[in-house]
Amino acid sequence: MNFGFIGAGNMVSAIVKGMILGTQSYEGKHIFLTSKSVTSAKKLAEQCGANVCKTPKEVIANSDVVILGVKPNVLAAILPELQQAFAQKSPLVVSIAAGKTLDYLSGFFPEKTPIVRVMPNINAKIGASATGLCANEFVSEKQKQLVQEIFSTIGTVAEIDESQFSIFSVIGGASVAFAYLYMDALARAAVKAGMPKKQALQLTAETVLGSAKMILKSGEAPWPLIDQVCSPGGTTIEGVTALQAGGFEATLVKAFDAVLAKDKAIGEKK
Ligand SMILES: NC(=O)c1ccc[n+]([C@@H]2O[C@H](COP(=O)([O-])OP(=O)(O)OC[C@H]3O[C@@H](n4cnc5c(N)ncnc54)[C@H](OP(=O)(O)O)[C@@H]3O)[C@@H](O)[C@H]2O)c1
Repeated sequence: MNFGFIGAGNMVSAIVKGMILGTQSYEGKHIFLTSKSVTSAKKLAEQCGANVCKTPKEVIANSDVVILGVKPNVLAAILPELQQAFAQKSPLVVSIAAGKTLDYLSGFFPEKTPIVRVMPNINAKIGASATGLCANEFVSEKQKQLVQEIFSTIGTVAEIDESQFSIFSVIGGASVAFAYLYMDALARAAVKAGMPKKQALQLTAETVLGSAKMILKSGEAPWPLIDQVCSPGGTTIEGVTALQAGGFEATLVKAFDAVLAKDKAIGEKK
């Protein structure tokens, strides 16, 4: 089975490297890549032993699964002229474009084309994406499994109802930046108090990683865990109440709502 990628930027590089180099689950000879300048596709292909194609049409002609890896606003520019190529080959179509719905995508393909919408995040680069996917009614269980296998080479994969996909793109996508910001702010505070930045960031990241594992593995909700850390009259409760007084939780909810609104607006733009 062959896999084609249209676009060879940040996210496609992470996926292709995860498939071929990270997990060695796929062979480069089964992967076909193209990009606008073709230079980035060539570079990625050289790194992974994959094939380079001069055009998206060539990718489609060679592929059983075609992954659309261009920016969301580029889809409308390139898909109309690829309709015939898709009709001739009838591949399984996978889109990673943020905000673009299955309904929007289906308008560019022949009727009954199986389409899977996938949302990975940038932690894919180290095999740690929390990826969400949803599929239209023409995708078989086997095809869905195939896509899950591809994206499990870059982390975990969860099926999300499309009605909740915008919510997922905040939790699974944008919140990556929120987490980076939290860690950076904490590490800077440690620098202010006298610790070198590198060490402060390393310790902060390890603490966040450990806390995330605790939530996932213990099955406990955050508040009972917070209570365990806050001794009566102790130091941690001072910090927790200072965060609350500063609007930490309310600000996060505002940030969530802002991303959600923008995601929906992008989805509505044709
Ligand atoms: N980056 C993320 O964290 C992330 C997370 C989730 C989803 N996504 C989605 O992933 C997709 C790609 O994002 P990205 O960050 O990887 O973008 P990117 O790094 O800018 O890559 C975009 C790629 O599209 C290629 N391209 C542009 N126009 C083209 C055309 N007409 N024909 C063929 N290829 C074309 C570019 O070619 P050149 O290299 O030649 O310029 C480039 O390789 C987007 O839809 C985005 O929503 C990204």
